[in-house]
Formats: sequence, structure tokens, C-alpha cells
Amino acid sequence: MSMLGDRLSVLSWISLIFLLHLSFTPLVVSQIQLNPDNFFIPVAIRSPYFNSWIGGNAPMSQWPFFWSGQVMAWLGLVRVDGQYFEWFGSWIPTSNTTNSTGAQLTPTRSTFFLQAGPMNFTATFLSPIEPEDPVKQSLPFSYLSFEAVSTDGAGHNVQVYTDISAEWMSSNLSNIVNWNTTQTAGSTFHTIVQQTPHQFSEANDIADDVIVYYAAPSSPGLTSHIGFTNDCREQFASQGFLSNSPTTPGSGVIDNPFVLFAHSLDLGTITQTVSPVVFALGIIRNPSIQYTTPDNQVQNRSPYFVSEGKSIDEIIDSTVNDFSSAAQRADALDKKILNAASAITSNPAYAGLVSIATRLSWGATDLTISLGTDGQWNTSDVKMFMKDVGNSRRVNAVETLYAAFPAFLYVNATYAGYLLAPLLESQDIPSYGQPYAGRDLGGTYPIALGNNEAHQQGVEHSGNMLIMTLAHARISGDGTLINRHYNMLKGWADYLVNNSLTPTNQVNADSERQANLTNLAIKGIVGIKAMAVISQALDKTNDSAHYDSIATTYANQWQTLALSSDLTHIVADYGDDGSWTLAYNLFADRLLQTKLVSDDIYQLATQYYKSLTVSSFANTSFGLPFDSTITTSLANSAWTMFTAAVTTDSIVRDSLITPIWAHASKNPSNPFPLQYRLDNDIVTGKSSPAQGAMLAPLALTIANTTIIIPPPSNQNAGSSSDGSSSHHNSIVGPVVGGVVGGLALILLLILGAFFWRRRSRYRFHKPGSFHNYETSMPTAFLSDTPTTSPTSGTIQPINVALPSKAREEMTQNSQTTLIRSQNSNSSAPSSSYSGTSSGADPNPANASPESPGPIQESLQTDVRGLRAEMENLRRAMLEIHAERLEAPPEYEG
Ligand SMILES: *[C@@H]1O[C@H](CO)[C@@H](O)[C@H](O)[C@H]1NC(C)=O
Ligand SMILES: *[C@@H]1O[C@H](CO)[C@@H](O)[C@H](O)[C@H]1NC(C)=O
Ligand SMILES: *[C@@H]1O[C@H](CO)[C@@H](O)[C@H](O)[C@H]1NC(C)=O
Ligand SMILES: *[C@@H]1O[C@H](CO)[C@@H](O)[C@H](O)[C@H]1NC(C)=O
Ligand SMILES: *[C@@H]1O[C@H](CO)[C@@H](O)[C@H](O)[C@H]1NC(C)=O
Ligand SMILES: *[C@@H]1O[C@H](CO)[C@@H](O)[C@H](O)[C@H]1NC(C)=O
Ligand SMILES: *[C@@H]1O[C@H](CO)[C@@H](O)[C@H](O)[C@H]1NC(C)=O
Ligand SMILES: *[C@@H]1O[C@H](CO)[C@@H](O)[C@H](O)[C@H]1NC(C)=O
Ligand SMILES: *[C@@H]1O[C@H](CO)[C@@H](O)[C@H](O)[C@H]1NC(C)=O
Repeated sequence: MSMLGDRLSVLSWISLIFLLHLSFTPLVVSQIQLNPDNFFIPVAIRSPYFNSWIGGNAPMSQWPFFWSGQVMAWLGLVRVDGQYFEWFGSWIPTSNTTNSTGAQLTPTRSTFFLQAGPMNFTATFLSPIEPEDPVKQSLPFSYLSFEAVSTDGAGHNVQVYTDISAEWMSSNLSNIVNWNTTQTAGSTFHTIVQQTPHQFSEANDIADDVIVYYAAPSSPGLTSHIGFTNDCREQFASQGFLSNSPTTPGSGVIDNPFVLFAHSLDLGTITQTVSPVVFALGIIRNPSIQYTTPDNQVQNRSPYFVSEGKSIDEIIDSTVNDFSSAAQRADALDKKILNAASAITSNPAYAGLVSIATRLSWGATDLTISLGTDGQWNTSDVKMFMKDVGNSRRVNAVETLYAAFPAFLYVNATYAGYLLAPLLESQDIPSYGQPYAGRDLGGTYPIALGNNEAHQQGVEHSGNMLIMTLAHARISGDGTLINRHYNMLKGWADYLVNNSLTPTNQVNADSERQANLTNLAIKGIVGIKAMAVISQALDKTNDSAHYDSIATTYANQWQTLALSSDLTHIVADYGDDGSWTLAYNLFADRLLQTKLVSDDIYQLATQYYKSLTVSSFANTSFGLPFDSTITTSLANSAWTMFTAAVTTDSIVRDSLITPIWAHASKNPSNPFPLQYRLDNDIVTGKSSPAQGAMLAPLALTIANTTIIIPPPSNQNAGSSSDGSSSHHNSIVGPVVGGVVGGLALILLLILGAFFWRRRSRYRFHKPGSFHNYETSMPTAFLSDTPTTSPTSGTIQPINVALPSKAREEMTQNSQTTLIRSQNSNSSAPSSSYSGTSSGADPNPANASPESPGPIQESLQTDVRGLRAEMENLRRAMLEIHAERLEAPPEYEG
């Protein structure tokens, strides 16, 4: 107890120093002090294939692991006056580990505070987010910096050691890797490649075509070595340096015995490090994406940084030498995000959430360029790709992008455009063939084939795409995409005109299928309004007036249909009085300032959420399901945050936010899962980019700017857009005409149906719907001060039960790994890499293509339809081919 007390005061003290040091602005939270006991902390997150975490309670006695569970060994040792201690990883028994005194999280960094003997240490893992420089953003390096300070004022003799294993190379630890060490003027780095890499393929979510670099800046005290336990770890432990044999290339199996890539630095006798000891780990794939262009070229796209034409030696030298500037830029971004977060709420849960979420979105992407027809890298052709990390291999999965979008809009909206560009481009061709937006760019990252399959999420994705496309234009001011793809966007808006007010045979992002989902309908309606604003920006005033009037009419209808008959809440589906939903798509109305929905509705919804947060769900402290009609009581952190962002009462908002953090920080076996059952520990979407939704309240604070439309002469897509314009007009014209003509009739029908529903409202009762909440709720949960404030004061334990089974599993994992790393001569391949999860997707809408619904428009059955079929067939063949290229099958448990 007294030790806990010590730690508490120590942490407050560190926190205070940190505050004073960082800034004198009224930063309520300039970093998040964690209770590391209940936490998984991101270590290095820079790309879909560079995504590692560690159990925060003991970074010095467990291995970091890939989000899906595989151990990726990264070890840190330090010698103080001849005694050695472990500060990261799990090689030696706990008797010789440093003590952990706390951890800290900012949007770009995770810092661990450690102590051994007469020294304090900090180990900081920096995952840069570099929006100002696409070269740096596309370079997946992560920094580890290490600092030491004497606690007794005396000088001590200090050496630092770190290594990685080749587990970062593949999920198949029997694979053979080749390695060597390079010494340049500025650095020494180890290079690891697979002997037989499999381009564009992954197993267990881990890529089989990476090159791993582990680098240290040149320094007189630096020794570097590739070897095994005895000549790396043991050599350092006993001698404090490595035998510097850096130029011998070698080759071997990853785990038999484990080959280690080590650096050691002798700091001499010091009272403190003058500047941090820096290491840089890079996991690079080049080419990174295989993209099928609209004219059916299969294009290998490279990371943006190749445009500089630098050698890897130059790249690594500049990376390690750039550390202090990178740290300053990271500071600036951290401050920007955390200041904005604390301006929204002083609830530390919110600062915690933006800190953990931002790098998940940015770090799930590859920023790419193509080789131009002139043989030069074409930096006018920038496209960004996002893997649906934690959930599936889908490329730019549209509902994931929609959730993640606030993180891009807030940090730099230009990148939101880089993400939309390939989706828009690949669908703006006659052979796309669907009247609605596609779900993704294909199901096998990093192969972006495009996806023109018919599906039932037409309202969902057309709405998502129109909303995101306008949000990008409005916040970046760049009208290129809306101009280039105007006719296609209009086609999608027309689809929404036909299908969004009373969505039928539609499936939403959450795999709900019932007709007339209120939350889906409002997304579609905001999408129509987005088209009106897009049209306006392009001076197409007739179109604008047309969509504007429909959106307004529909929104007015919606505001009646979507409410329960007692006008207390938004129902899940029209007429289903006993149901309710978190109407998270209202976020789009606020984001785009469409003002389609009246403030009254927001207030009413807020009051209802208030009543729900004190309902029976409160017993889990993990918040609300997103919809009462989901019988398994699923919560989704992104949708909860979208909902929180548009509440009209800050106490209600915080009562939605706090449980998200409570869940994120309680979950030792699951790195920040997106979706979770409230009745057990089943989760999906670990480490999901969709967590970018945590920045939703920040996105609402961004000022929009005037959209600049590029002059027509600069339109390189001009000719193709002419072509598609006639194509789209031919479909869209009659539909629109019919819609306008039939609008009055529809309205009459709806009105009739509405009154009929009012009369028969009590007929609706869904089994499993939680319509009794309001009557059974204690009122303790809501208060001015959140009852669970995990980080206030620094190290308050979160008041939740630990899932002990998961904890045991993790501990066992660590032990297994410890043993196998120590017994480096054992010849049995380890079987412990199956990890804690499969990437299996329990969401049927995500896992398998939707079967074509009855929503096919008759207008499609023409030559175009035939061509689309041909294209489907071709893509299916390509997809099969791509899957066969993937060497090892997935090890799914
Ligand atoms: C702990 O460290 C000491 C001094 O460095 C060393 O002699 C001892 O063998 C270590 N113990 C273990 C279990 O590694
Ligand atoms: C860790 O902390 C405990 C309790 O304060 C102390 O006895 C022990 O020596 C510390 N370990 C190291 C390596 O300093
Ligand atoms: C946003 O990103 C673009 C492209 O990398 C860059 O040119 C611009 O400077 C960035 N703006 C900010 C404010 O970071
Ligand atoms: C070392 O860390 C301890 C525990 O976190 C703290 O109390 C102490 O002030 C630190 N000392 C120095 C010199 O940083
Ligand atoms: C190290 O190996 C890589 C990959 O095989 C190779 O490109 C590079 O030239 C080698 N470097 C040295 C110094 O041997
Ligand atoms: C570069 O990319 C742009 C945009 O995709 C394209 O219009 C242009 O033709 C490309 N340039 C070359 C030289 O390939
Ligand atoms: C921002 O959006 C609002 C709402 O649509 C609009 O009234 C305003 O003109 C926009 N501001 C700019 C600078 O475009
Ligand atoms: C959807 O709602 C509309 C308007 O209330 C109603 O006319 C229609 O019957 C509903 N559809 C279904 C399948 O319930
Ligand atoms: C793992 O790699 C080894 C050596 O490359 C190979 O023989 C084996 O088939 C692979 N296992 C799987 C499951 O792919």
C-alpha cells in the first residue's frame, strides 16, 4: 500500500514536471498518465503490417506483440555499474528487471518510466504522424529513445542494449531470412529480408514481403552484432558491449535458434543522458500496393518516399539524424490534439482516447505513388490505402473509413482526399455497373482490385461516400474530387433519393437488415444534402436546388417518422416504439453543418441517452449498445463517440465517453477493440483504424473553407469525365425525372403510412429489444464527476473486474516465449505464434459479399450490365489468382 502511495506521488510529480516543461498554456492534460495495470499500450504503429502493442503493467517483463497476438520480440537491457537489468521485453526472470513506475500516452508516443538501482529510465516509443511531409509519412520507421538519470546524484557507469528477433518478418517462424549489417557515415543498421518473400501476401495478418531495418546513429560507444542469445544478450550482460562484426551477411531460420539483431551503446559514467539514446525500427514494403487502374492496368504502387530517389543508406541516415526534429514535430501535433481535446472536455478519458486512437488510423495506411508514363515517380498521383486492421483484409473499407475520417479531417484533410481518390476513381467507369457506391476496393489487402459486386449496403455506402467527399472538399478546400467525379456522385445521390427515406432491403454498417432503419435513413438524407452543397460549389444551381429541396423534405419527414409516438426518443426503425438507437449518423449533419435536423431532436435524443446511461447497462460501466434491437448487446466505440459528439449536454456526452475509455483501458487481452459485447469479453476490430472516430468531437471544431475548383484546362480526368457524364446522365436522367414527378405521390403514401402507424403503434414489439430501460435504472451513474475516472489524479485503478482468463493466457504467452527465446538451441519450431485472435470477421456483411438484392434497377439491364458482368468475371479471376499467390494459409483458430 505504501508502495502504491509512493508510486502515486511519484507519478503526480513526473506529471507536474512534464506539464511545466512542456508548456505553460492551460493544459489540463498534456499527456495521459495510465494505470498501466489494465492496459495494452501501443508500441509502434506505422503501417498495417507494423502494429505492435505491449501489456502496460510490465513492459520490462513481457514481449510486445502484433495486434493479432504474435510475439514480436523487441528487447531492452541496461547495465548500471556492471549489474544488468531488463527494461523491455521478457528475456530474464523478473529478479533482474527494472521496476516500472508508470506509463504515459500521447497521440504519437508511449513512454514507460522505469527504475533500477540508482537510476531512473524512460523508454519512449514514437510513432510519427507526419502530415506536412508525405515522404516522412510514407516511411514506416518508429523511434525508440532511451534516457537515464541518476537518482543519488552520483555518476554511474551505464550501457544500453536492445535487439529485435526476426519474428517481425513473418508469421511462419520456420521461414528462412537473410541478414547483414551496414555501416554508413551516420548510422549502423541491420537489414533482414525473407529468402523467399511473397509479394503482396500475408498470413495471420502479417506480411510476407517486408524488409526490416534496425538502426542506431553512429557513435563511438556503439557496437552492433547479429547473433544468438550467447553472443548478443549474454555477451552484453557480462561485458557491456558486443563484438562488432557488422559486415558478415548470414542466413537462417527465424526461430531455430532465434537470431537476434542487436545494438549496444556504452554511455560511460554519467549522471544523466545529455540527449536521448535513439534507435529506429523500420518495416518497409516496396511496392506496397497492387492497384488495378480504371483502364485495367495492374499497377504496383510504391511508398511516397521513393520519389526522393534516395538509397536506403541515405534514408536511414537521415531518419536517425532527424530524431530531434521528429520529436519536436510530434510534440507540436500532440499538443495540438491534446489542447483541443481538453478544450472540449476536461474528462481525462477523452484525452486518453484521442491519444490512443490517432495513430491507429494513420498507422493503418500506406501512402503511395505510381511510376508515371515517363518513367519518373508521379507525385501527382498520390493515393492512400487503409487496411481494415483488426477486422478483415478489406482495402479502404468504406464504413471503416467513415468512422476513421475524423482523425484525417482533423490532422490534415488532404490525406482524407488521398484515401477517397482510389475509391472514387475505380468506380467512375462504365463497367462499375452499380447505381450505388461500392463497399471497398477489394477484400485482400494489399491488393486493391476494386470491387463492383452488387451488395445491399447501397444507402450506407452512397451516404458514406457523399458525406466524406464533401467533408474532404469543405475542410481541405480542394474541389478536385467533387469536380472530377461529379456525375458519379450525382448518380449516388439519385440512388439515395430513391432509397434513403424508407430504406428497404438495405443493410447498414452494423449488419442490421430491418426495413426503415432511422439511423441509416438520416445518413442517406444527409448524403443527398451533401450533393446539394457539392452542386452549389460547382455552380450547378439547378442540381443544387433539386437535391436541397428533396433533402429538406425528406429530413422533415424523417423527423416525424424517426421518433417514438410519445416523442421521447429516436426509434431504431420507423414505428418500432419499443426500440431505440444511438443515432450516430446525426454526426454527419453536424459535421457538414447541413442543419437538416432541428436542435430539438438533438436535445430530445440527448435526454434519452441520459436516461439510458443510468439503465441496466451501467452495471458493466462499458456504455451502451449502439442499438436496442441488437440482441447480443454490442457496443461500438466509434458509434458511441459519434453519438457523444453531437449530444447537447456535456454531462451526457462525458457519460458516453467515459465508458469507452473504461473498456479500452480494462482490456489486457485486446488492444483497443472497436466493437465489444457488453455481456462478455468477445470483441472485434482490435487496433482498428475506425478508432479515428475518437476525434469526432474535434472534427466538429474545424472551420470549413471555400472549395476551390480547379480550372477545367487542368483537368487531367476531363475526357474520361465527359465520357462518364453522358453515361451517368443516361441512367440518372429518367430516375430523377421519375422521382421528382412521383415525389408528391410518395409523400402522400408516407403520410398515410405514418398515420396508420400512429394508430397501430402498440403492435410493434421485438423480442430482445430493451424497451423497459427507463423504468429500471439507478440514477447514480450520471454525476458531474464521472464515477470511473481512470486517469484523474494519475493512477486510479479502474474499477472493473479483470478478465483473469485472458490475463492468464497472456502471462502464459509471455512465459512460453521467454522459454523459447532462452532455449535458443531448441530445434522444435514454436507453436505459440497462433496468438490470441484470428482476424475472422463475425460480421456477415463484412465477411462475405452481399448477394445481389432485389434492389437492382431495371435500367441496368443493357449492354452496360453485360459489360459489368464481364468485368466481374475478370476481377473474380484476378481475385482467385491473388488468393493463390498468397503462400501460406491463414492460421485461424
Ligand atoms: C542478475 O544480475 C546479476 C548481476 O548482473 C547477475 O550476476 C545474475 O546472474 C542475474 N540473475 C539472473 C537470474 O539473470
Ligand atoms: C524495485 O523496487 C523494489 C521496491 O522498492 C526494490 O526493493 C528493488 O531493489 C527495485 N529493483 C531494482 C532493480 O532497483
Ligand atoms: C497537409 O498535407 C499536405 C500534403 O502532405 C501538406 O502539403 C500540407 O502542408 C499539410 N498541411 C498541414 C497543415 O499539415
Ligand atoms: C526517479 O523516479 C522516481 C520514481 O518515479 C522519482 O520519485 C524520482 O524523483 C526520480 N528521480 C529523478 C532524479 O528523476
Ligand atoms: C544487405 O542485404 C540487402 C538485401 O539483401 C542488400 O540489398 C544490401 O546490399 C546488403 N548490404 C550489405 C552491406 O551487404
Ligand atoms: C501522373 O498522375 C496523374 C494523375 O493520375 C496523371 O494524370 C498523369 O498523366 C500522370 N503523369 C505521368 C507522367 O504519368
Ligand atoms: C461553411 O459551411 C456553412 C454551412 O454550410 C456555410 O454557410 C459557410 O458559408 C461555409 N463557410 C465557408 C467559408 O465556405
Ligand atoms: C417503412 O416505413 C414506411 C413509412 O412509415 C412505411 O410505409 C413502410 O411500410 C415501412 N416499410 C416496412 C417494410 O415496414
Ligand atoms: C513455413 O515455412 C516453411 C519453410 O519456408 C515451409 O516449409 C512451411 O510449409 C511453411 N508453413 C506454412 C504453414 O506455410
